[in-house]
Amino acid sequence: MGNKKSETVTKKQELTTQKVILNPDLKIAQKKKLSTKSTYHFLLESFVMQLEKWEKDLTHIKSKDYDRFMPEVTEVIEKFHKDCKKITNNLSDSLANYYKLSYRNLLNDYWKQGKVTKRVIEKPNGYDGDYLTMELMYADKYEGTTKLGKMLHKYVVNDRSSISVRMRREYFVNKIKGLVDKKNNVTIMSVASGPATEIYELIRREIYPKKIILIDMDKNALKFATSRIKPILPKFVELIPLNINIYSFVRFRNKFTSIKDIDYIYSAGLFDYLSDIMVRRLTSVLAKSLNNGGEIEVGCFSEFPIGFFADIAADWNLITRSVDELKELGPKGYEMSTFNIKDQGFLSIKNSI
Ligand SMILES: C[S@@+](CC[C@H](N)C(=O)[O-])C[C@H]1O[C@@H](n2cnc3c(N)ncnc32)[C@H](O)[C@@H]1O
Repeated sequence: MGNKKSETVTKKQELTTQKVILNPDLKIAQKKKLSTKSTYHFLLESFVMQLEKWEKDLTHIKSKDYDRFMPEVTEVIEKFHKDCKKITNNLSDSLANYYKLSYRNLLNDYWKQGKVTKRVIEKPNGYDGDYLTMELMYADKYEGTTKLGKMLHKYVVNDRSSISVRMRREYFVNKIKGLVDKKNNVTIMSVASGPATEIYELIRREIYPKKIILIDMDKNALKFATSRIKPILPKFVELIPLNINIYSFVRFRNKFTSIKDIDYIYSAGLFDYLSDIMVRRLTSVLAKSLNNGGEIEVGCFSEFPIGFFADIAADWNLITRSVDELKELGPKGYEMSTFNIKDQGFLSIKNSI
């Protein structure tokens, strides 16, 4: 009986919510023949109304029912950002800045109620995509200080970009498992290893390379990764965390004598921040660190589905590249091929025997 009543309440709430959903709609603004600036403000303010509506609706919703609420949240936010993007395309820098500030003034307090969204906006470690942001993406939960915040957090960790982050982790685990199954004493190296969750996963599944090198510029990322891996690591596996910035690695390559004879080098979540010149230099230096028969796999987003939110709310920008563009930047004289994992393209570079 009690359940039936709450179901009716929820249905009613969903219906009233749908009425508001119609508001942040570009078509309505266009019918009103508003100027571009007014259209934009109309979208922002309608979206605030929508958020306030959700806040109220969510007071009655239990955490077990969050999943039912999410499709609507995702659909409205995606549509809102798509409409905003349409009217903020090709603006002068000062106008783009004005639009960004208006967005942030109205909306960032809501976004900051979500855990990952607060983190990407505030960047407590000073840069985007730090190891704790990655951990939140891997965890894929509802996290935040309010129910609305939890929804906004989930919207980001449930986006295609975050799904492909989780898929690439699974890919690396399977790839390394394949190598370990085929060959003894495998040496692997993760460049920009962050939380190194794939290594933690490997060890948990009792898949053991001989040597694991982790490179990251963030000491805390390495500390976090090693403190989780070490307690479950057998003595015969060597774990080598190296606190190196890849810019120094490229520049002073000869100083890093321990980085050599590697069977498999991989990197994800780094190349999206590197210029073409740096991608060229880094892949060429990494290729020289391979064993005969060794392989490099490096990834880069070809599309960043959540990019509009990331840019406008948090100045989080990626350099996206197609797999063909990525291949152009690979070192000459090596066998190269490409593949995709959802929205990320990967370049494979082989040092043939
Ligand atoms: C987006 S995370 C990716 C982490 C991990 N590869 C993953 O997929 O979960 C990016 C990592 O790159 C590291 N990083 C960024 N720029 C770097 C640089 N110039 N040199 C070394 N590490 C860097 C950051 O510290 C961070 O841990």
